[in-house]
Parts: sequence; structure tokens; C-alpha cells
Amino acid sequence: MTTKTDKILIFDTTLRDGEQCPGATLNIDEKLVIAKQLARLGVDIIEAGFAFASPGDFEAVSKIAEIVGTENGPVICSLARAIKADIEAAAEALKPAVKGRIHTFISTSDIHLEYQLHKSRAEVLAIAEEMVAYAKSFMTDVEFSPMDAARSDPEFLYQVLEATIAAGATTVNIPDTVGYTTPSEFGAMIKGIKENVPNIDQAIISVHGHNDLGLAVANFLEAVKNGARQLECTINGIGERAGNASLEELVMALHVRRQYFNPYFGRPEESQESLTNIDTREIYRTSRLVSNLTGMLVQPNKAIVGANAFAHESGIHQDGVLKNKLTYEIMDAQLIGLTDNQIVLGKHSGRNAFRTRLKELGFELSDSELNKAFVRFKEVADKKKEISDRDLEAIVNDEIQQAPDLFRVELVQVSCGSNACPTATVTLRTPEGEELTDAAIGTGPVDAVYKAINRVVNVPNELIEFSVQSVTAGIDAIGEVTIRLRYESRVFSGHAANTDIIVASAQAYVNALNRLYASLQSQQKQQGVSAQKV
Ligand code: KIV
Ligand code: ZN
Repeated sequence: MTTKTDKILIFDTTLRDGEQCPGATLNIDEKLVIAKQLARLGVDIIEAGFAFASPGDFEAVSKIAEIVGTENGPVICSLARAIKADIEAAAEALKPAVKGRIHTFISTSDIHLEYQLHKSRAEVLAIAEEMVAYAKSFMTDVEFSPMDAARSDPEFLYQVLEATIAAGATTVNIPDTVGYTTPSEFGAMIKGIKENVPNIDQAIISVHGHNDLGLAVANFLEAVKNGARQLECTINGIGERAGNASLEELVMALHVRRQYFNPYFGRPEESQESLTNIDTREIYRTSRLVSNLTGMLVQPNKAIVGANAFAHESGIHQDGVLKNKLTYEIMDAQLIGLTDNQIVLGKHSGRNAFRTRLKELGFELSDSELNKAFVRFKEVADKKKEISDRDLEAIVNDEIQQAPDLFRVELVQVSCGSNACPTATVTLRTPEGEELTDAAIGTGPVDAVYKAINRVVNVPNELIEFSVQSVTAGIDAIGEVTIRLRYESRVFSGHAANTDIIVASAQAYVNALNRLYASLQSQQKQQGVSAQKV
């Protein structure tokens, strides 16, 4: 069998590797919302999670397999260590998917073998071969990753790849687990694999890489030139430590520079055919959704999706762009789905116009989600005359955010100003339905609100990040607040949007506290179960 693809397959691991970064934890409903959007974006494979890791991960993989893994949908994948129980859990969770994939891995670098696995090369080789064959007994689509491949001895790597392909791996993934390699080195590694693994034509070569030296995307592009045909990446580049290679940067590099890459695919240089299956117009919305739900902010100067990516500040640049966009712009903002912020709706717009515009923007909401979002829209429209597409996105993303509904903000009142002591009063509805009011003073109005909330919720925590961004320009703009707080060693995020940034701040904080509170509750439940067992 020859496994060939004349396109680059995009393997999105936002919900697995991306979700591994501190505070990016998503609940099942949020993962499902993201998976649906990834399908709309056109990714070929969604790594939905690590089914064996926890019952919640298992359920998320299974739900995504059922709802997103349809006939015309993407392949749904679960990660599994090269351990039977992991592979069984992955196979079970993936059962509802029309197209499922088990992605199993074991380290191959000497440093991991000696200090982490305490195993010899021969042992690792045997395990890899056996576990790929085991995964193959459950499904035909099996991916194998030799973890820390970039720091592995190439000769041992070739051996492991040959054995795992012979055992049934249809994709072999080459991870730069610690973000250590450089572009020419990584390209040479892929070339070496093509030349030295005799059965390599029976598998697709994939790459996976972290951004510790800021080189992940460059490394991948060099790998593509040398034969890699699957790229493992995440939206906004989120992931362990410095993150993973960013999907939007890879896709747009392959799109904008396709004339440069075409010859590596045997195409004429001038071919306009896309090199990936991604609908680039969905990129911006996907980026915003992932940022809002994970609480991982996108830096303003981030390539492709940063707030400044298409803004021209310098006079010379502005002058050039006004004369001809191509003087300083290599891609049109509309290509990634950025509209010109046209004013579409206002106070008098009805439910039908609201629903129609949301549909045009690609949001498919259930009736109850639509009702909730419409109520919010009317509230915002009362305060803000003109509602743009960006505002609509903020409203909808805020409403479909699935932070557990435990504490609820009922009232926020602040008094502050020069020569005044910032004071806040808040009323929260508790999970038991009781209304509790408290007040506090702080260094500023937000600090006072947070102190008052803490007096009600009473879970010690440390605020480690607070950010306010305005959705559009203008004094009446919606403000989006994203916060992260730490409880012991865990980080929880919260996000909220409102025309009143103090209210948005309170809601974002309560969202994060609700996540923390829900996690404490489930911990207590688990401890209760084990106490009963004892
Ligand atoms: O970074 C890594 O090596 C991984 C593997 C599990 C593919 O995430
Ligand atoms: Zn990784």
C-alpha cells in the first residue's frame, strides 16, 4: 500500500496538547463547541483528547466522536500511551466516530529512556511494535509517535519507524517534544527518514513541535519541503510551555507562499490550488473562540490573528496602503475572515434579523442558546447604538461559554473617583439559591469588587492575570475581560463581555471561581467515594 497525499493534512491538537497549558482547561461542552468550529474550519483530523487520562477526557472524546465525527466530518483521534489500557480506552471512546484514529506514543531519545522509562532501546522497540499492532486490532487508522524524536539517535528512530509501519501504523509522527531543533536540522531529519526507512511510502509522515525557541512553524515548513504531509498544530499556538506550532501561521504561510511551496508537491509554480483543506475565512473566528473559552489571550502582535496584524501605524505605511494595499500588505484581512466591521444591527432589529446575521457569521445556535443570546443582544443594544459583527461574536461567545453556573452575579455597585475610597457592593446567588450581599474597599473599583466577591465565595485564591480589551473602537464599545487565578498549583480562567467593564470584570471573576468551585466539588465527591470504599 502506498499512502500519498497531494495536500497537507492539518491535524489539530488544540483540544489535547493545547488544553495541556495551565489554566486552559475546558469542560466537555466547551470542547464540543470548539470541535464543531474546527470541523467548520476544515481541519482533517481533530485530536479530541487523551481518553484514558480521566473520565471527563473519555467523555469529551466520545461526545466529539459522536457529534463531530460524522461521514463528512474530520477524523477524530485520541492519544494513548503505548500501554494496553490506554489503547483500549481510546478505541472505546472513538467508537461513535465514522472515522477514528488511535495515536499511540513512546519515547525514543536516550535521555527519556534512561531517566523516564528506565528501559533499553530493544525494550522500547518491542513495546512500540506490539502496541501499534494492538491498536491496529481496534481500527485501521493508527498513528505512532516516537516521543522526543528530534533528540533521538536517527539510526534507532529509523528502526522504530520501520517496525511500527510494518505493525500497521498509517501515520508516523515526528515530534520535537522540547522545541529544540532548528529548521535545516529538522528538514534533514525528515529527509533521512524518507531515505532510510524502507517502508516509509506506506505511511504519511507527520510533524509535531513545540515553540520553546520560537522555531516550530519554521521547522514544520522545512519538514514539508522534505516530505512531511501532516502538520500537528493548535489554534493560536497554545500548548505545553511555549506552545505548539500555530495552525493559522502554517496555513497562511502555505497559502500566501504557495508558489514557493508548489514545486515540492509536484505542482506547477503558478498553481492556485490550495495546499490545505482549510477554509481560511474561518481562521479569525476560531482564534477568538479558542481565546475566549481557554482564557489564553492572543498577543496583539501575534502573526495572522493578533489585533495589530493588519493595522498600519506608521505614516509611510499608511500612505502606501492607501495608494495600493500590496505595498505593505501580503494578504487581505478578509482572507482570514476579518470583516470591515460593518454596522449590521441595532436596538430595533428583531429576532429574525439577529438569527439571520448569526447564521451568516457561521454560528449555529440551539433555540435556547439563541434566546439567551438575543436577550443579551437587546441589553447591549440598549446601551450601544450600533452593533457590529465583532460585537455579535463577543455576545455569542460569551453566552455559549459553558462555565459551570454555580455562583451568579446579581448586583454590582461601585463608588470610586479622585479623593474617594473605592468601595464595592456585590450580591451573588449561591449554588443553593441563597442571595448573599457583601461589600469591600480596594485599591481601585475592580479590586474592591473582587474583594467583596471573595468575602461571599470564601475560596482563597490568587489573581494572576487580569486583562480588559475593547471589542471595537468607540466609547460605547463592549469590553472583554479575561482573568486567570491560581488555587494551590492549579490555574482557572474566566472570561466575560459587557459594555460596563466593572460588570464584565465581576462576571469573569465569578466564572473562574465557578470553575474552581466545581473542581473542588468533584474532588470532594471523589474523596467521598474512596472514603466509602475504605
Ligand atoms: O510533544 C510531544 O511529543 C507530544 C506527543 C505525545 C506527540 O505531544
Ligand atoms: Zn506535544
